[in-house]
Amino acid sequence: MIILVTGGCGFIGANFVRYERAHHPSDRLVVIDAITYAGNLHNLDGLESEITLVRGDIADAPLVEQVLRDHGVEVVVHFAAESHVDRSIVGPAEFVRTNVVGTATLLERSRTVGIKRFLAVSTDEVYGDLGPQDPAFTEGTPLGPRSPYSASKAASDHLCSAWFHTYRLPMLLTRCSNNYGPYQFPEKLIPLMILNALDHRPLPVYGDGLNVRDWIHVEDHCEALDRVLRHGRDGEIYNIGGRSERTNLEIVRQVLALTGRPESLIQFVTDRPGHDRRYAIDGSKIERELGWAPKRPLEGGLAATVEWYQRHESWWRTILSGEYRTWYERNYGARVQAI
Ligand code: NAD
Ligand code: DAU
Repeated sequence: MIILVTGGCGFIGANFVRYERAHHPSDRLVVIDAITYAGNLHNLDGLESEITLVRGDIADAPLVEQVLRDHGVEVVVHFAAESHVDRSIVGPAEFVRTNVVGTATLLERSRTVGIKRFLAVSTDEVYGDLGPQDPAFTEGTPLGPRSPYSASKAASDHLCSAWFHTYRLPMLLTRCSNNYGPYQFPEKLIPLMILNALDHRPLPVYGDGLNVRDWIHVEDHCEALDRVLRHGRDGEIYNIGGRSERTNLEIVRQVLALTGRPESLIQFVTDRPGHDRRYAIDGSKIERELGWAPKRPLEGGLAATVEWYQRHESWWRTILSGEYRTWYERNYGARVQAI
């Protein structure tokens, strides 16, 4: 299979590229990534000779079509997005451009070229907010996004569904809960808290810290995506969850325990506007139809993640210093732009 991975220099995309190389070494992988602040070529270190990397924007229609045609792409796995809720609150326009216009461009060019399978990677946030006693989201839960990020992802999901129903583009859609693990950009809760703890900086907890997320290790997510890609039914939506609902405060306390730092580092700060209280995933469909369930319990996964950040200090130091933004220009500038 020749697979185009959009956003393969980001957190989940890079983990997916690594997963596919390890489990399906005969497949060919082409990555397209605009290398925004969230894209980092170091996330693909060691794979330089095994994949093709194109630096480009998924909203650039002629480029997307050229990449699909020149590389004989058969399957698209679509991760590229603006992904951070806080950034969507201060600057929503880029979220509409990448997550809505970008997805529409990719879908349309995939249709024109005759792609065999299009897997869109989405999020549980499109379903909206849950109260403490509400049942978990199923694939049939009506969409109710509440942040510019989740609204742009919901729009992206609707476009995917439209391209399936109207044009019969063989599309599948997954909606996953909160990921954690190696190579996550340290603006998201878990890596931010780990790095702050390691550097003895305060850990900023929004509001009362009792918001609940369902945490999944990124390798479990990648395995689920691989299962959907190879065995899922066209036009179907699959929820993916980690069976690990925790409050933010529980997560932060575990990070402090794992790093040996005191709870006095916790600092309650002003809440995020429109902060969703709880997400929870009903993952029974993927379990029943595709035989997939998460394998990594949160406590072990979190300990392994803390250890990964401790062992990969140079990876995150170059991010904190901003050096990772200039490194690729010096080392790869010309090469990654060539297709
Ligand atoms: P990320 O922010 O770490 O990575 C996004 C990648 O997309 C980056 O490499 C970036 O350079 C690239 N990109 C951004 N705009 C682009 C554009 N216009 N053209 C090409 N590339 C572009 O995100 P992530 O956390 O890895 O999330 C990947 C996908 O999974 C997203 O679609 C996100 O909505 C979804 N998702 C994330 C989570 C999570 O917990 N992180 C959970 C469920 C779903
Ligand atoms: O649910 C899946 C989604 O999970 C993905 O679609 C998004 O791409 C991803 O960013 C994530 O969204 P969240 O908003 O849930 O993740 P974030 O890591 O930003 O925040 C997790 C929780 O922690 C949330 O309740 C806000 C809180 N938080 C976050 C940060 C960055 C804090 O209390 N302090 C912080 O500094």
